[in-house]
Amino acid sequence: MYLCSVIHNIYYMNTSSCHLDVFTLSNGSNLQVDVTPLGCRIIRLLVHGTDVVQGFDKAEDYLPERHVSYFGAVVGRYANRLAGGRIALDWDIIQLPQNSGPNCLHGGPQGWQYAVFNVEESSERKLVLTHVSPDGDNGFPGTVHARVTYTLDDDDSLRIDYHAETDRLTVINMTNHSYFNLNGDLSSSIHNHLLQIDADRYTPINEVSIPLGKHAPVDGTPFDFRTAKPIGQDIDVNDPQLLIGRGYDHNFVLNTRGSLEHPCARLESPLTGIAMEIRTTAPGMQVYTGNFLDGIVGKGGTPYPARSAVCLETQMYPDSPNHRWPESTGYLHPDAPFDSTTIFTFKH
Ligand code: GLA
Repeated sequence: MYLCSVIHNIYYMNTSSCHLDVFTLSNGSNLQVDVTPLGCRIIRLLVHGTDVVQGFDKAEDYLPERHVSYFGAVVGRYANRLAGGRIALDWDIIQLPQNSGPNCLHGGPQGWQYAVFNVEESSERKLVLTHVSPDGDNGFPGTVHARVTYTLDDDDSLRIDYHAETDRLTVINMTNHSYFNLNGDLSSSIHNHLLQIDADRYTPINEVSIPLGKHAPVDGTPFDFRTAKPIGQDIDVNDPQLLIGRGYDHNFVLNTRGSLEHPCARLESPLTGIAMEIRTTAPGMQVYTGNFLDGIVGKGGTPYPARSAVCLETQMYPDSPNHRWPESTGYLHPDAPFDSTTIFTFKH
């Protein structure tokens, strides 16, 4: 595995010959999480025995030669979009790969979802994974040392701590891109899921999904989730913002402002009664309702059609380095490491 990691980090060569480990974490009661070092991916998340994340059967199925996907991955170096694939660093304009229309999405075509992380520490309830992203990785300057820690707690929570350091000014945005479906049937529509988001504002986008730069009130719009409502309630109304991404694919400005004290969001399936509360130190959360899922076949031969999952990606706002948001700059400075924590707590 170490050799694969080195090869992958330097050359991004074909990794299909690698054996990928799977680490099973358990809190000894209702929660079990299986993680592979390939992209730090959560490949199974069992709540009372019910798997609530889409993905594939085996860790090797997540290799880019088999499937191009973000299922369960930690995305980086910059999660979501950078406009025109460009960032300004000091006086330089850096051109990054444009892998989503004109934009750089999720760190470029060989983002961290395909990097084989090193396993630093592994125990029943905790897994620590690290990755060295070299200077010039997917065009991003600076060598970044990244660390992801998964911890399970007694209260059925999964905690993810992200840490990153650089030797040179660069940009950073780390999140987990799990595709949640709490229905107990990973091919079923998530329109029935009740979603609540503690956000008075969101960041509207242009026609290529880049934030316009202003915060807009959710009040009186389909983006008002301040009281729990079914995801499907307003998703197909004739709203120009919803038409851009065929549903929700937007960043919410969280009222929790970096505090873990209160949940920023809650998701619940009325079918199973499984609920998930999210707490985060991140300023924003991208809500993506699986609009581009195309029936890709996953676990046990199950197809995943559009809107059969929802991703709740706690993070900096998309394209932050190209805007002036004090609470979300997206920059990583050599003297100021990046730290971010998100806790998913499950109830049944
Ligand atoms: C994010 C983006 C979406 C889409 C998915 C991956 O959530 O905002 O537009 O690219 O990732 O398919």
